[in-house]
Amino acid sequence: MIATPLFLTVIAASVVLAAPSLTTSGCDISNAEISLPSGLPPPTSPPSYISVAIGVQNYTCADTGAYTSAGAVAELFDISCLLGTPAFDHIQDLAFNIWKALPSKVTAEKVIELLHLAKTPAILGQHYFITNPITGSGLSPKWDFTSQGATKGNPNAFVVGARSGGVPAPTGPQDVDWLFLTGVQGQLADQIYRVDTRGGQPPATCTPGSAPISVKYASKYWLFGGSIHQS
Ligand SMILES: *[C@@H]1O[C@H](CO)[C@@H](O)[C@H](O)[C@H]1NC(C)=O
Repeated sequence: MIATPLFLTVIAASVVLAAPSLTTSGCDISNAEISLPSGLPPPTSPPSYISVAIGVQNYTCADTGAYTSAGAVAELFDISCLLGTPAFDHIQDLAFNIWKALPSKVTAEKVIELLHLAKTPAILGQHYFITNPITGSGLSPKWDFTSQGATKGNPNAFVVGARSGGVPAPTGPQDVDWLFLTGVQGQLADQIYRVDTRGGQPPATCTPGSAPISVKYASKYWLFGGSIHQS
């Protein structure tokens, strides 16, 4: 049998992300408090999911020679059971370092596919973009938990968000903005926050006509409210 180093790396990544506390998911988060910088409004509903995500931010090169955002795709892992442990504050660094260390030819989709093969119980779902369901044009972010875990098979276990606020990452310009989004469709959440971001920023300039790029990132996503809760 030929086990490629690549495959082993991905399995190692999934084991690290899954172990040890992440193998148990669905811990009580009702008392969890998100810490937000000034500029992001506090949530108005109780927390429903707390996750760490790895994925890519996509960009297209505009005629002005600057990259503009063109969606993202990411995989979300339950970190509810890390609450109150030292690992909670640093999990996005661990996730980002593993993700960055994988060769660039290993796409987020490939990692997601392999993680699903490993049936990691801590996977909550996926984050990706769809055509804005309200206006029918432009892209809207979606968090989709319909194919994983406790919410698998529930067609309403998703939320489509609209950006309601954002601030530069407190950690510096190399990290994508922290965001506050409001749910506009689906029953998974009423409010979504992207915080503790790592990476994901495009180069400052591009050559007009050049191909779209994908930049690796990690972050936490906190979901609040909604009617589909984990515990
Ligand atoms: C982002 O790029 C990845 C490839 O890196 C692609 O699979 C995905 O569909 C893209 N998503 C969007 C919204 O463009």
